[in-house]
Amino acid sequence: MYNNWEKLEEDCRKCDKCDLCKTRTNLVFGIGNRNADVLFVGEGPGENEDLQGEPFVGRSGKLLDSMLKCIDLDRNENIYIANIVKCRPPKNRDPLPQEQDICIEWLREQVRLIKPKIIVCLGRVSAQRLISPDFKVTQQHGEFIEKNGILFMGTFHPAALLRNPNNKPLAFEDFIKLRDKLTK
Ligand code: URA
Ligand code: SF4
Repeated sequence: MYNNWEKLEEDCRKCDKCDLCKTRTNLVFGIGNRNADVLFVGEGPGENEDLQGEPFVGRSGKLLDSMLKCIDLDRNENIYIANIVKCRPPKNRDPLPQEQDICIEWLREQVRLIKPKIIVCLGRVSAQRLISPDFKVTQQHGEFIEKNGILFMGTFHPAALLRNPNNKPLAFEDFIKLRDKLTK
């Protein structure tokens, strides 16, 4: 258990606990406000994220930023963004359950220190990991579930919205619900 963000980040950046360390360019620790009320969690870095060392910087990141802006959230101001695994899975495959099991301990430490009120799971991998193993994004998106004093909500992954823009209005509804929870 860590009580110091700097030490946590320093140790994480050296992590070689799973094979993803062998193929990473940069580890993607996370970005944002360490005192945020809301934490967004994706699945893992893609190519751009691996190259830049920051989560959600590709096309899906641009979409995420624009949706966040609509509800007055900003990665450089009032939220934190991280992933289930911190190193890019080769060819953007899903992180293996075993890789998730190992890496999620870093996320747990981040959650302990940030103490968010709300965790938003971006996409199936994150929601199945953090909310429930059989979570169905199309059926359960936008539902808030309390666990251990934190409200969890799963919504569409921005990359899935780029592939299937028909779901964008549903995702926006989820973000509006999030705004309402935060301003209540
Ligand atoms: N997709 C994710 O799940 N996370 C990122 O950081 C980028 C793309
Ligand atoms: Fe460590 Fe996670 Fe990277 Fe694996 S993916 S090497 S557990 S930081």
